[in-house]
Amino acid sequence: MPAVYVLNGPNLNLLGTREPATYGTLTLAEIEARMVERARGLGVDLVFRQSNHEGDLVTWIQEAGAAGAGVLLNAGAYTHTSVALHDAIRAAGAVTIEVHLSNVFSREAFRHHSFISPVAKGVICGFGAASYELALEAILPHLPALAGR
Ligand code: DQA
Repeated sequence: MPAVYVLNGPNLNLLGTREPATYGTLTLAEIEARMVERARGLGVDLVFRQSNHEGDLVTWIQEAGAAGAGVLLNAGAYTHTSVALHDAIRAAGAVTIEVHLSNVFSREAFRHHSFISPVAKGVICGFGAASYELALEAILPHLPALAGR
């Protein structure tokens, strides 16, 4: 079964109460439940994780690459700062889609630059929790296990 890792970075554990006007009112656990349900329908094995620590995200990207899995990455603020995550995606060779709940381009200028975008297959942002679901559908044809189907 093809696998997709959904990796969430710093402060996303606070979803539900964190700036709901920007990020919505769903908790990360509720987003996870939706994604698990959606993945089951699509026949995809889903691994859903969150960490406030950059190195955990690096390790999990490497793990996904070694497993031949795709990655949906909401790196939170590390999106805008992390050469380590950029390098991890390159090194792991895992097909990666950058995901954001908010439309980062309609926000502060410091959110307009991403270290993830240049090594991502694509970017989905601005659709709230639906950004994750859209990214799951988008990555399917690019998963090694499904390529060519
Ligand atoms: C975010 C956008 C980032 O700029 C911010 O630092 C986050 C969340 C989003 O999902 O909209 O933590 O990645």
